Amino acid sequence: MSGSRLLGSGSALPRRVVTNEELAATVDTSDEWIVERTGIRQRYIAGEGETTASLATDAARAALADCGLEPGDIDLIVLATATPDNTFPATATKVQHALGCNGGIAFDVAAVCSGFLYALSVADSMLRSGMARRALVIGAETFSRILDWEDRTTCVLFGDGSGAVVLEAAGERAGDAPAGVLATRLHADGAQHDLLYVDGGPSTTRTVGHLRMKGREVFRHAVVNLSEVLGEVLEQAKVSVDEIDWVVPHQANRRILDATAKKLGIPPEKVIVTVDVHANTSAASVPLAFDTARRDGRIGPGDLVMFEAMGGGFTWGASLVRL
Ligand code: COA
Repeated sequence: MSGSRLLGSGSALPRRVVTNEELAATVDTSDEWIVERTGIRQRYIAGEGETTASLATDAARAALADCGLEPGDIDLIVLATATPDNTFPATATKVQHALGCNGGIAFDVAAVCSGFLYALSVADSMLRSGMARRALVIGAETFSRILDWEDRTTCVLFGDGSGAVVLEAAGERAGDAPAGVLATRLHADGAQHDLLYVDGGPSTTRTVGHLRMKGREVFRHAVVNLSEVLGEVLEQAKVSVDEIDWVVPHQANRRILDATAKKLGIPPEKVIVTVDVHANTSAASVPLAFDTARRDGRIGPGDLVMFEAMGGGFTWGASLVRL
């Protein structure tokens, strides 16, 4: 196989919207502070019956419908999440069962906010190697369940949601031009663990724990790391920055998006921004933003799209995809 093509996308959000004003009623914060520092105006928060697996399944169904495929056409599910339904089994197996396509490969990837980039890369590699033919690559999170709702420095920043794409091993459908996943670069730096982590886990505290972050330092690293990795992908793909039609960044903070785009000379109108409505949905953020922009007609067939993300670990990466 020469590569993998992206056939469709889908996304799903919890029913409940929580505005900054609603948060300010219970936490010492304000709409003005949150909007000015982050660009976030609201977020979706999972309620009764809504879990990472249920949101992932809804996004997967939407992605399959988008490209006219059935669950039985899928033989690989790679799900990126830091908020699985259970410590084990993998949430991907719950999604597989809910879709009714048992028997293929299904597993989770843990790379926090870069999870979708890692999952996309793993799925692309497995399709290229011939291990599978069609993959669902999903990013899904319920970060509301690991937030410390008394910590105003973190709880205002995150939301819940999911996004999915369908990838197919190239060569199964007509089309000669190079398309699909063209280049990917991934990185991790475990030395930065303490800047963004969860203070619990099965093997340490035997609890789920809460998210902890040194926001200002994360911000500083994010702009540097993302600019570098975008440059690496462009070089690997032998593509100039002007050829990119759209950048779909991880939606952590409006100021990080703006600063990274400026550093690379990417015009703001080419950057998809949904952080205002979704907040930071971690591994779900890139596919959720991508699906939003495909459905509103901005991103279309033939477009050259750059995905990029950075998160806890630290992990970070970027991937260039031709639709
Ligand atoms: N509402 C009101 N005030 C708040 C607040 C909130 N929700 N959160 C923090 N503050 C206060 C702080 O206590 C501090 O007060 P002080 O000066 O009296 O001590 C002040 O605002 C400034 O805090 P600081 O942390 O320096 O603000 P900042 O400009 O760095 O913005 C972030 C904070 C978190 C928005 C910003 O650092 C950020 O976005 N970082 C990146 C985080 C991120 O994206 N992480 C995910 C990566 S995957």
